[in-house]
Amino acid sequence: MAESMKGLKRTCRCAELSEANIGQTVTVMGWVQKNRNKGGICFVDLRDRSGILQIIFEEEKIGAEGFEKAGALRSEFVIAVVGTVCKRAGAVNDSLATGTIEVVATELRMLSESQTPPFPVEEDSKTKEEIRLKYRFLDLRRPDLQKIIMMRSNIATLTRQFLSEEGFIEIETPILQKSTPEGARDYLVPSRIHQGSFYALPQSPQLCKQLLMCSGYDRYFQLAKCFRDEDLRADRQPEFTQIDMELSFVDIDDVIDVNERLLYKLFKEILGIEIELPIQRMTWQEAMDRFGSDKPDIRFGMELKDISDIVKSCGFGVFTGALENGGTVRGINAAGQGAMPRKKIDALVDFVKGYGAKGLAWLSINEDGSFKSSFSKFMTEDELSAIVERLEGKPGDLLLFAADSTKIVLSVLGALRLQIADELGLRRPDEYKFLWITEFPLFEWSDEQNRLLAMHHPFTMMMEEDIELLESAPEKVRAKAYDITLNGVELGGGSVRIHQDDIQKKMFNILGFTDEKAEEQFGFLLNAFRYGVPPHAGLAYGLDRIVMLMAKTDNIRDVIAFPKIKDASCLLTGAPDIVEDVQLEELGIALREV
Ligand code: AMO
Ligand code: AMP
Repeated sequence: MAESMKGLKRTCRCAELSEANIGQTVTVMGWVQKNRNKGGICFVDLRDRSGILQIIFEEEKIGAEGFEKAGALRSEFVIAVVGTVCKRAGAVNDSLATGTIEVVATELRMLSESQTPPFPVEEDSKTKEEIRLKYRFLDLRRPDLQKIIMMRSNIATLTRQFLSEEGFIEIETPILQKSTPEGARDYLVPSRIHQGSFYALPQSPQLCKQLLMCSGYDRYFQLAKCFRDEDLRADRQPEFTQIDMELSFVDIDDVIDVNERLLYKLFKEILGIEIELPIQRMTWQEAMDRFGSDKPDIRFGMELKDISDIVKSCGFGVFTGALENGGTVRGINAAGQGAMPRKKIDALVDFVKGYGAKGLAWLSINEDGSFKSSFSKFMTEDELSAIVERLEGKPGDLLLFAADSTKIVLSVLGALRLQIADELGLRRPDEYKFLWITEFPLFEWSDEQNRLLAMHHPFTMMMEEDIELLESAPEKVRAKAYDITLNGVELGGGSVRIHQDDIQKKMFNILGFTDEKAEEQFGFLLNAFRYGVPPHAGLAYGLDRIVMLMAKTDNIRDVIAFPKIKDASCLLTGAPDIVEDVQLEELGIALREV
């Protein structure tokens, strides 16, 4: 039967004890990891969020009744133990921080029993994630998840500390908001009082933080919950957290400077790693050309090389055809992979087809310098050696080529580069390579909507030298936008905002907003801008992604206490769920049969 803890007070956590405490009487409380009853003596591993401590129950120390109670303890029972810290009588356990000590119990309270858990609460669980998520409260007891959740808390605390010291003010912005288009799909919340009207959950505090700049809070930050109804991936959740900030009277370098120092502090204090400052910067164009990605992993080379000029009049129709259609032919050098078996090359061909490629041309350089290739028979010796030279091919290398539209070639080779690097172990987990990507295009073309969209958002300022291109060649205009990337992951992004009325108007025109439409959607912001708006800029990080990289997990669910699965549902609570008819009636909502 469960007992109370009346009269007892926990003196410390399990793993806070060490040899320095030998001889002291302590009171510890936690969960039974395991109980080994060796007849006359019970060894119990007691666990709390600090770690594990061995407790010894001997009949002569704890009495017959206490010893009987100890013998009945099973995994996940919650107990309180009073006892004396001693040097371990048995063998030292090197795998435990408390491996040289034990607590010899003089009192035991059984605070709560536990049913047999559906899976053992232990590090590196082999249990299927679905079951772990259904029993998330048990899963969250596992030491590896507890480490991550505590690391997340430390990151948040350090961020708050750093930003307040830098003069930032933490301000909360509403969760019930007005729906604004551009971006991902909104989550909508029906209004009971204004039937037929809906709030939207914020995709980010973007407009609010710009209003706060108009209100004079010249450095704002918030750990903001954001909601986006988009297709989930390994690094995306429908509900996630941003470290969001905005600054007035600044330009790009000011934002970058404070953020480099924030990242430095986080990595130094959490991981003991000193980031080299300043962090390298690369323009979007250079990143795309060299790595086929706007968030390149620069821990390894294997850069893309353009061979269009070499092959423009070769005899290989696949290459010349792509060029005639305005496309490009580019390749990468998988150094040392010349002996890759055909089967594996075929697997790479299948891989790139998943990215929209029609095929993958290859050339391997034999040790004697001769070539084996899917296309050499269509090429002259000169063309082949020029290609090999361009890709810096050496005996034993494998060169891989894609020919198509520039968009497809870059995305195919960008993905292939990562795939091969993964297979070869080139993405070293202990290396952290930060990179700022700058000078993003202001617009991107949407085939779906047949119009230009803002690549970042409609309030992003363009580079001053490109303003004159706004109307004549908008696709050439570069934005004062920047992303911070780490090891091939976009950690965060931001921009300098437009604060001039006439430029904002032009921007809306190009995006296809009439004056009325712009007023209807963003009127409250445009109105605020009429009453004195400071130049401002900002940035937001995905906090979840920072934690993922620091904790070395590629699963975003590992860094969120109560995450959603791929179909945006919660296996623990069953959300989303149907609601009572009366609730719908109050909202004036009638469901249609689907
Ligand atoms: P952006 O849309 O780039 O910018 O978002 C900023 C950062 O948020 C993270 N992120 C996500 N993390 C997990 N799940 C998601 N579904 C998800 N979507 C985005 C990414 C991303 O870099 N208001 C602007 C910022 C600004 O201009 O100041 C914004 O929201 O790490
Ligand atoms: P095919 O003429 O389709 O038999 O292709 C000849 C070789 O070119 C094969 O190795 C294909 O995988 C490769 N290939 C086909 N299309 C492309 C492409 N768009 N880019 C690069 N290689 C391709």
